[in-house]
Amino acid sequence: MPTLETLITEAEIQSRIDQLAEAIRADYGESEILVVGVLKGSFLFLADLVRRLGQNLHVDFVQVSSYGDGVVSTGNIQIRKDLDINIAHRDVLIVEDIVDTGLTLHHLRELLGTRQPKSLKVVALLGKPDAYMEGTTIEYVGFEIPNRFVVGYGLDYAERYRNLSYIAVLTLDE
Ligand code: IMP
Ligand code: MG
Repeated sequence: MPTLETLITEAEIQSRIDQLAEAIRADYGESEILVVGVLKGSFLFLADLVRRLGQNLHVDFVQVSSYGDGVVSTGNIQIRKDLDINIAHRDVLIVEDIVDTGLTLHHLRELLGTRQPKSLKVVALLGKPDAYMEGTTIEYVGFEIPNRFVVGYGLDYAERYRNLSYIAVLTLDE
């Protein structure tokens, strides 16, 4: 049986999102933000975040192909579901659940960057700095965590555990 060990509690997540929202609001002022959630992992984080960004904003989603276990990226990410909204001349804030190697984010920035957004920033709930590829930049990070596999609060293992209110390290039995 897989075992779960709590890494970040529900209370810790929620109070960190208060701080992130405050920082984002301070940076954007009255500007309208286009919040872009990366499906599926970001759905709970996005839901909690946008309710604290009490200003004009729009929400859209993008879904990209995952690399799968042990598969090394060969090039550009595949878009499985593109945005509905035209991002040209808008302040775009990408919402990610977790940045691991940073490859997904790198390609997403490159792709969305070609569509003439006014600005393009990233907020990630979790980051694994030990795994980041060179040049990975994230404007807002909730928690920097060790290079372990985590689940909960949107993050899955084989589509399980997304509904947990906390983040846990998942250990699979050998
Ligand atoms: P990256 O392209 O290596 O940064 O991978 C990012 C994506 O891999 C995330 O958006 C997640 O979907 C998935 N991922 C990376 N690490 C974890 C983890 O620890 N648990 C669950 N999913 C993860
Ligand atoms: Mg993801």
